[in-house]
Parts: sequence; structure tokens; C-alpha cells
Amino acid sequence: MHHFEYRDSVLHCEDISVSDIAERFGTPVYIYSSATLTRHYKVLADAFKDQPCLIAYAMKANSNQAVLATLAALGSGADVVSGGEMKRAMAVGIPANKIVFSGVAKSRTDILDALEAGIHQFNVESLPELHRISELANANGYTADIAFRINPHVEAGGHANISTGGAEHKFGIAWHEGKDFYTLAQSLPGINVCGVDVHIGSQITNLDPLRAAFEKVVGLVRDLREAGVPITRMDLGGGLGIPYRDGDEPATPAEYAAMVREVLGDLDVEVILEPGRMIAGNAGIFVSRVEYIKERDGRRFAILDAGMNDLMRPALYQAVHEMKPVVRSEGRATLDYDIVGPICESTDRFAKNYPAQEMNEGDLVAFMSAGAYGAVMSNQYNTRPMCAEVLVNGDNVALIRTPPTFEEIIASETVPEWLKT
Ligand code: LLP
Repeated sequence: MHHFEYRDSVLHCEDISVSDIAERFGTPVYIYSSATLTRHYKVLADAFKDQPCLIAYAMKANSNQAVLATLAALGSGADVVSGGEMKRAMAVGIPANKIVFSGVAKSRTDILDALEAGIHQFNVESLPELHRISELANANGYTADIAFRINPHVEAGGHANISTGGAEHKFGIAWHEGKDFYTLAQSLPGINVCGVDVHIGSQITNLDPLRAAFEKVVGLVRDLREAGVPITRMDLGGGLGIPYRDGDEPATPAEYAAMVREVLGDLDVEVILEPGRMIAGNAGIFVSRVEYIKERDGRRFAILDAGMNDLMRPALYQAVHEMKPVVRSEGRATLDYDIVGPICESTDRFAKNYPAQEMNEGDLVAFMSAGAYGAVMSNQYNTRPMCAEVLVNGDNVALIRTPPTFEEIIASETVPEWLKT
């Protein structure tokens, strides 16, 4: 469910017309709906309300501070994967004791900052990382609450590039290493062993692989407890998929929660969830304007003012974001288009042979489900400034990321003295 719908043939975000937003803030532009973010958070929180549970929003999906503040106001914590993300989360007032630090390569600075802040938990990815955390905690008078990220060897995920639970993936410690590593961790100074963490991939629409992974983890928690390791938390990672097209029917948060309840049985643990895409994905759209229509070799190209630097998912994962006209015109035909951007790369293509309402220069199009892994993965390739992001709340709209000017981009680089004439 989201709050992007047509009113009088014009796409609206909540109570504001997308055409008006495009006029006012220019294109390309990311548009987020506060009501949708709020709804997604609440539906999930409600599904887990009978279970001690920390929702640590995986802010890698969309870390704009306005998005974070929206979720923080609802009580959300944050799953962070870098020192920068941790600082962002704290800047909007997410309390440190609701922050979980994941990520494969925590630097010494990251670890010290997190210890000093007093975060809820480190999700540890390797033995060297455990030793580093122990050394820094012990030397500075802290105790770090840790979980190991266990790789359950269950493969899942909407695309090979976003699957993480297989043996060849870099993530986590191996399943068979689990018990020994926990015993070792208990003996290290500055370490409080409290959790088991698992995350097998992203855009998982079917509960079976999640269930398989969680069942393995529950078994491990019981074994560890028997061996005297007092596990009190289970971090289930993120991963529940979202509908990208009409007809997609991923498992719902309620079904997910019921499955978790069933798998946990009488196991008394705090559950930690790290949802990213399911909170932000369908709460955002990406809007672009048609620069040119070009017909060549029997193909019809719609060349947009947005490129793979703005929305990388199609180039990186062959993802298809449903594209809608911002203004529906009853009289126009439906034609097949290759939807492409202005960048000098063949992968700068949003869709191939895509049936769309006939387009003309200047028309606006909206890519749906672009709220997660859209703006955060954008870059300035071809010296294309990172585009604006706006947040809508009812009939209010605010600019929440200002694109840099060309002058600012150019001024951020330095030509050494010896090259100046
Ligand atoms: N927790 C961990 C440890 C993760 O690595 C991720 C995502 C999440 C939680 C959140 O997963 P979600 O609930 O969003 O599925 N850029 C890709 C997705 C990469 C996901 C990386 N990890 C895409 O655009 O599809």
C-alpha cells in the first residue's frame, strides 16, 4: 500500500500533484511520501507487537535525514553499516541504544565511536573484527554487546547480486565455526556475548528460505545456551521483499511475523529486525522528463533527463521499475520504448521494449518503488549533479536534498600548483 495515485489523470503523492513538484523542484527528482513510510513502519511494528522487538531500520536503503527523522519519531532504531551512517542516525536523534552496527569492515574509528556512543549491538563478521572490538573496548573501559553474523548457507534474494547467505559470499562467519567462536568470544575482555545475527539476502518474497535460516539459528541459540553461552537476542536481518509490479504478491509483514513466532516457539529472546526496502521502497518514486524521442533501426528510444547515475538498480541488477506517465492521456496509444538515459554507457537503460503511453518531448514519467536503494546509490558520473529529493506530508512538500551546483562540484576538486600556468 502506498500513497501515489492518480487524481483527475495526474499522478499525486498524497495531496500534491507530481507535475507541480516537478515544476517547482525540477527533474530528475526523488519524491517520498511520509504517510507511506509511516504506514510501512506501523504495519511491521504492529505485526511484532506481542514480541520484545527492536526495529532497526536498515538505513542503507534510504538514509536521507528527513526519512530517518520520520521513522525516528515512530520509535525506530537504525541498522548502520558505516561510521557515517551512525553519525547520521544520531544526528536525527535515534538513540544509540537503538543502533545496531552491521557491516563487513568496521574501522578502528567506527568501533571507538560506536563504543563511546553506547550502541545496542555490534554484529561481528569475523574473528579479527572480534579481536579488534575486544582490544578497543578493553583499552578504553567499555563493554561491547556483540552478536556474530552467522552465514546459514541458505541462498535467497531477488537477484544473484543481492544474495548473501551462500558459502562463497564474504558475509558472516561460517555455520560450522559458530560454537567455537562464541566460546572464544566469551573469554575475551570487553566483550558481552548476547546475540546471533543472520541476513541471507534482499528482496526475498517467499518466506521459505527465511524460515529455513531462522530454524537453523533457533537450533544454534538452543545449543549455545546449553553450552553456557547466554544468548538473549536474535537479529533476523532485513530482506522481506516488496511488490515492484502489479500482480507481485510478496509475503506480508503479518505472515512474516507469524512465521517468526512459529519458528521461535517458546524461545525467549529479543528479536531485532533490520528492514530497509519494505519500509522505504514503495514510499518513493523517481520522476524524470523526456528529453528526446528517437526512432532508429526499428527501435523507439525515449531518452530521459535521468540516468544510471541517478537510479542504478536497472543497470546493476537488471531491475525493472514500473514506469508510469505522470499525466495520463486517454487518447494516446501504447507503444514499445527502450527507456534510456543521457549517459555514455549502453547499460544506461531503465527498460527495453517497455510498453508505455505514447511519449513526447517534455512529458514526465515516474519510476515506481524507487524509495529504497535509489537516491542512496546515486553518483555524479558524467558530472551530473546528484538530483533533488523531496518529502511530501499531506499537502506539504519540502526539499530534503539540494543538488550541488556545477560550481560547487568543480570547486570541490583541486588542481595542484604545479599544473597551474
Ligand atoms: N541488514 C543487512 C545486514 C543488510 O545487508 C541489508 C541489505 C539489510 C539489512 C536490509 O535489507 P532489505 O530489508 O532492504 O532487503 N542495493 C540492492 C540491495 C542491497 C541490500 C544490501 N543489504 C538493491 O537495490 O536491490
